[in-house]
Amino acid sequence: MNIQLIIFLCFTPNIILVVFAKNVKIIGGVDADIKEIPYIASLRQFKKEEHFCSGAIISHYHILTAAHCIDSLDKSEVRIYVGSANSSNYTGPYYNIQDIKMHPKYNKANIKKLKTRYDIAVLTVYPRIPFNQFQNKINLPNQDIETGELGLISGWGWKTYPIGWISDTLQKLSMWIISNEQCANYFTNLIREEHICVYRNRETGTCFGDSGGPLINNNTLIGISSINSPCASGDPDVYVRVYTFLEFINSIINCHCVPFDCNCL
Ligand SMILES: *[C@@H]1O[C@H](CO)[C@@H](O)[C@H](O)[C@H]1NC(C)=O
Ligand SMILES: *[C@@H]1O[C@H](CO)[C@@H](O)[C@H](O)[C@H]1NC(C)=O
Ligand SMILES: *[C@@H]1O[C@H](CO)[C@@H](O)[C@H](O)[C@H]1NC(C)=O
Repeated sequence: MNIQLIIFLCFTPNIILVVFAKNVKIIGGVDADIKEIPYIASLRQFKKEEHFCSGAIISHYHILTAAHCIDSLDKSEVRIYVGSANSSNYTGPYYNIQDIKMHPKYNKANIKKLKTRYDIAVLTVYPRIPFNQFQNKINLPNQDIETGELGLISGWGWKTYPIGWISDTLQKLSMWIISNEQCANYFTNLIREEHICVYRNRETGTCFGDSGGPLINNNTLIGISSINSPCASGDPDVYVRVYTFLEFINSIINCHCVPFDCNCL
């Protein structure tokens, strides 16, 4: 059993421990149209023209992502691109970050020790994100998800491993939601109630650049891509269970004025 973890800090090369697997096709997904996944956002270091993580639109002003995506960056370095399946098109529309709220118990040092917890952050953006068929919000859950359902994952992460690069075109893939008990068999002392795991088979799953991306079931955002084994190794992919963080999320999105507009939700 391979229990070595890789966390998708794609812009922190020191922990991209590239392991020596064969060159597998990892996402194993298919091209997606943005109209099918209008809630996805691409987080980019725009000066470097580099997509590094995803997020999900949860209101006209808020993007939900993984805390580890954003814990080493200044908000002025990052732009949020929405409404396009093409990660190398910088035309926009894009939004700037006004505020980053990581979970108060999130600890960056634990990420490096592979003990990630509370890996969730809400970004407040400006100006207001208008909704249409290309960019729209996704609902937050009002009940916990049952094991054994299918969930849809998506992102622009590597499609091949151990050699890969950010995908130009948004990829999507259906995965089985497995129980935390089952998932814990693959990860020593890591899985908590706050996690939710998905699995399909060997040679499919998330990879570098997919962090922060959405897991959807029943038109609801149930997970945020957090950690995982070496890409597509046959271990499950671990997401943050959004349901367990509703209080944190709602405390930020139940809004308040932001510059230029007070009409938040
Ligand atoms: C880039 O995106 C813009 C806005 O979505 C679109 O109008 C344009 O055709 C795109 N360009 C390419 C080369 O895909
Ligand atoms: C994505 O956008 C880039 C830059 O505008 C363009 O060169 C490329 O052809 C586009 N890719 C697709 C699949 O439309
Ligand atoms: C699916 O979503 C609908 C509408 O949001 C909700 O009423 C229903 O309870 C959900 N079903 C399940 C199984 O979660």
